[in-house]
Amino acid sequence: MSSHTLVLRWLHGADLVGIPAPLTSSLMLIPVLYAALNFGAAGAIATTSWATALFVLHWLVVHYSQITSAHLWIELVSMAVLAASGVIVGQSVDVERLGRRRTEVALAIADLAEARYRGLFENQPSPVVVTDDGDVVVELNTAARELLGTDAQGRLLEASLGVTKSDLLARGTPIAVRSSIGLMRHYMPSAHHIDVPGGTGLAQIVLADVSEEYQRREDQRAFTGRILEVQEEERLRLSRELHDDPLQQLTFLTRMLDEIAEDPALAPQLLGPVRDGLLISESASTALRGLIHGLRPPVLDDLGLVPALRQLTETVRLRGHLMIALRVRGPAARLPADLELTAYRVAQEALNNVVKHAKAQRGTVTVTFGTHLAISVRDDGQGMTKADEEHGLGLTGIRERIDRAGGTMSIRSRPGKGTVVGVSLPSEVSTRPTSSSAWP
Ligand SMILES: Nc1ncnc2c1ncn2[C@@H]1O[C@H](COP(=O)(O)OP(=O)(O)OP(=O)(O)O)[C@@H](O)[C@H]1O
Ligand SMILES: [Mg+2]
Repeated sequence: MSSHTLVLRWLHGADLVGIPAPLTSSLMLIPVLYAALNFGAAGAIATTSWATALFVLHWLVVHYSQITSAHLWIELVSMAVLAASGVIVGQSVDVERLGRRRTEVALAIADLAEARYRGLFENQPSPVVVTDDGDVVVELNTAARELLGTDAQGRLLEASLGVTKSDLLARGTPIAVRSSIGLMRHYMPSAHHIDVPGGTGLAQIVLADVSEEYQRREDQRAFTGRILEVQEEERLRLSRELHDDPLQQLTFLTRMLDEIAEDPALAPQLLGPVRDGLLISESASTALRGLIHGLRPPVLDDLGLVPALRQLTETVRLRGHLMIALRVRGPAARLPADLELTAYRVAQEALNNVVKHAKAQRGTVTVTFGTHLAISVRDDGQGMTKADEEHGLGLTGIRERIDRAGGTMSIRSRPGKGTVVGVSLPSEVSTRPTSSSAWP
């Protein structure tokens, strides 16, 4: 059969080389699917419409007189299947394209967020270190790289900062770090847990530079310390001078008056005035001794803390109506002079407060020797409130001394339930030029 004849037979709706006529229309599936795959549902609909238009034209022009209803139905069903297949394929292509587009948009947003986060992370002026759950540094920002060096990444945090992450955060005080260019700075660490889905626990440690504030505090501490030192030196000088001169003279005067009063040659009318003079001189000596002890008890330097506290509690007992007890725990020993003086001053001020403010019946001073020297002064008086603490200078003075000695202080009190002032001082250290305990 020549090609010419074939075309004529096709135009007349006959089978082509034995292929049933409906299959001819189904060949249109190829361009329809091609359009669906490349242009989606819209492409499939457009191509199906175009094919339908061609077939309708073909029937009208070529087969109009021969169209049977069966033939028409077969052709219509073929076209409907063609259109449905094209639309289904086109729609799934559209859905897949939409999904891909959405994924691309989501990735673009994620890239943008990542870029923004990285910008914030890198440009953060404070050093920021990210560690994994094994304390290994997995990331550093620019400031952290400048501080710790680029080789800090991949190493343990402890290798760069000298402390583990948990120690760093538990201390709650600034950490001293020597930068890669040799500058010593102080940083306050704070950590945030980073949740990574399915990942290990990451922690972001921000090191806030508090060097200026730290230095200001250190200067202030040194200044307060110097004032306390000068005050103590002055008290010591005064107590020695009062002891060596006026007290000796008063003691001499008392002895002299006593001898005169005992002298049988003394005129009887002079005995009364001499005895009065003797009493005055004795009470002046007692008052002067009290003053000297208040300024700087010689017993503290000579015999140590426990005898000095014994003398102090005895003086308080004799002075008022307070029943006062001294308890000593642990092996009493001589300690550095600064430490003994600090402990004595704490007990002295706390006891003064009991006498002045507490309206107490009983008081107890407890001194405990150990790795720390602990002093507590307890009373059963009216108690005090937090606001009361700010009223005078005594408690502030205790705090400054304790701070300087690297110790801790606590005040426990409830209205009507008495007060306990407690301090704890490291025994082996006398005074420290710096202390971290006062950091808020
Ligand atoms: N044991 C105590 N019982 C009840 N209140 C107390 C006690 N100790 C201190 N206070 C209260 O705390 C306040 C502050 O005490 P602080 O020693 O600082 O100052 P002060 O004794 O009033 O004056 P200063 O010590 O400067 O002479 C006191 O005014 C008092 O109200
Ligand atoms: Mg006071």
